[in-house]
Amino acid sequence: MNERNVVANALHQVLADHLTVDEILALLENPKSSQHGDVAFPVFSLAKVLRKAPQAIAADLVANIPADNFEKVEVVGPYINFFLDKKIVSRETLIEIIANKEQYGDASIGKGRNIPIDMSSPNIAKPMSMGHLRSTVIGNSLANILTKIDYVPIRINYIGDWGTQFGKLIVAYQKWGNEEAVKEAPIKELLRLYVDFHEEAEKHSELEDEARFWFKKLEDGDEEATALWKWFREESLKEFQRIYDILEITFDSYNGESFYNDKMDQAVAILEEKQLLETNDGAEIVDLEKYNLNPALIRKSDGATLYITRDLASALYRKKEYDFAQALYVVGNEQSIHFKQLKAVLTEMGYEWSQDIHHVPFGLITKDGKKLSTRKGKIVLLEEVLGEAINLAKTQIEEKNPNLTNKEEVARQVGVGAVIFHDLKNDRLNNFDFSLEEVVRFEGETGPYVQYTHARCASILRKTNWTADVNSDYALNDVESWEVIKLLQAFPQIIQRAATKYEPSVIAKYVIQLAQSFNKYYAHVKIVNDDDQQDARLALVFSVKTVLKEGLRLLGLKAPEEM
Ligand code: ARG
Repeated sequence: MNERNVVANALHQVLADHLTVDEILALLENPKSSQHGDVAFPVFSLAKVLRKAPQAIAADLVANIPADNFEKVEVVGPYINFFLDKKIVSRETLIEIIANKEQYGDASIGKGRNIPIDMSSPNIAKPMSMGHLRSTVIGNSLANILTKIDYVPIRINYIGDWGTQFGKLIVAYQKWGNEEAVKEAPIKELLRLYVDFHEEAEKHSELEDEARFWFKKLEDGDEEATALWKWFREESLKEFQRIYDILEITFDSYNGESFYNDKMDQAVAILEEKQLLETNDGAEIVDLEKYNLNPALIRKSDGATLYITRDLASALYRKKEYDFAQALYVVGNEQSIHFKQLKAVLTEMGYEWSQDIHHVPFGLITKDGKKLSTRKGKIVLLEEVLGEAINLAKTQIEEKNPNLTNKEEVARQVGVGAVIFHDLKNDRLNNFDFSLEEVVRFEGETGPYVQYTHARCASILRKTNWTADVNSDYALNDVESWEVIKLLQAFPQIIQRAATKYEPSVIAKYVIQLAQSFNKYYAHVKIVNDDDQQDARLALVFSVKTVLKEGLRLLGLKAPEEM
C-alpha cells in the first residue's frame, strides 16, 4: 500500500461522514520538504463543510486519527502533516520486493487485451533514420511497460515498402544503377539512386512522370517492376535486421504497406457505400471540414492509392485481426495531421473504436539545429552510431575494470544501452540535437550511470553473500534510507503513469532518481558494518538492484552484474 493510501484510510476513519477515500486522496499533497512529513492534508478544504475554524478541525482530527502507521502527526498552519512510520513502511516495501522480485509492480489492469503498436516502420531503400530509431525504442519500451500491466502488445513493423518512391527508384536504377553495386551495399546504393533522382528531376521534370508511370505499373503487378521491388525490399530488410539484432528488438509482424495492396479496394468500397467519397479534379477525397482538417486524399486521378489509403486498410485489418483495446502508432510528430485525418475518416465511417486509436508522437532529432533529411543524403547512419557507442563503452571499461571477463558483451550492453537511454530519458515530444559525445557520456543522467549503480549493488551482495529471507523483519528507520524506501515504494505507480501517458521517460527519470538517491545513501551509510541493521540494509540493496534492473528492462536495457 502506498503512503497516500495509508493516510487517506486513516483520515477516512474520522471523516467518513463527509468524504470518501477517493475524495480524500484527491486532496492530499506531497510536501516539498521532508521536514513537513511525507503527506500533507490541507485542512482549510474542510472548513466550509464542517463550518468550523481550520485550527479546531485540525486539533479534532489529530486527536482521533488512528496512530498505528505514523511516527508523528502534526498540525502546521492550515495543514496536517503525516510522518509515516519508517519501520512499517520499509518492512512492508522490502518484503514485497523480496517476495515478488522482478514481478514487483505487475498489475492486471490490461486483462490480457491486445494493443497493436505500430513502431519502427522504416522505408525500404533508405537508411533507417534516427527518427526510426526513436520509434523503435519508444515502441519497444511501451510494449514492455504495457505487458507489465497485463496488456498483450503486438509489435508491428509497418515497413514503408510501397508508394511513389518505388517508381522513382525503379526509374533511377534503370537509368543509372548497376546490379553489383546494389548487391555490395544495398541501402547505400539505393540511397544514391534516390538522391540522384531528385537532383536530376529538378532539372528534368519529366522524370517525375516516368516515376509515376512505373509506380502504376508496380501497382498493376507488372513483372519487371515487381521483381525489382522485391529485390530492393529483401536487401533492405537484411540491413534493417542487423540494427534490430544489435538492439535485441523483435517484432510480431512485418506487415508493411504493401501487405495492404489487396485490402485497399475493400476499404474504398466501404467509403463508397457510406457515401463518404467525393470527386475533386478526378481524385477521390473524404471531406473533413467539420474536423477542421484538409480533405483526405484517398485515390489519385490515375487510380493510384496513397499513404492514408493503406493506413485506412491497415486500421480495419488490425481491428478485425486483434480486436484491440487500443491501437498505438509511434510515429514522429510531423505526421500528426495524417493521424488526425485517419481517425477522422474512421469516425466518419461510424466506427466507435476510432477513439481507441492513439498517435504517440515524438520530437525531431536535429543535427546542429537542422532537420535531418534523406533527400539530400544528410543522414546519420545508425549502425555507425551504435558501433561507435560500443567502442566508447569498451574504452571506458578497459580503463575502469581491465580484468572483467566478458568485456565484449558488457561493452555492447552499455554502449547500446547508452543510445537507448539517451533517447528515452526526455519527454518524447521534446526535440533534441544529436551529438555522439552527448549520447555516450558515462556520467550524469545516463544509462551507463544507472547500469553502474546496479552493478555496484550486485557487487555488495556478492561480497557479503547475502540471501533473502521472506520471514525476516527488514525494518529500517533512519532518515538516510527513507528517501530510497519511498522511491522503491512508488515503482508500481510510476509504471502505471508511464503506461497511461505512453511515456517511457517517466521510468527513465525514475531510475535515475533511484540510482542517485541510492548513491547518496551509499556515500553516507556504512552498509556492511556488522550490526543488527546490516541485514535490513542489504535487503535495501537487493531491492534497489531488483527495481533498477526491472526499470532498465522496461526501457529495453540490459543490466550487467559487473562493469
Ligand atoms: N514509413 C513511415 C515513415 O518512415 C512511417 C510509418 C508509420 N506508420 C503508419 N502506420 N503510418 O515516415
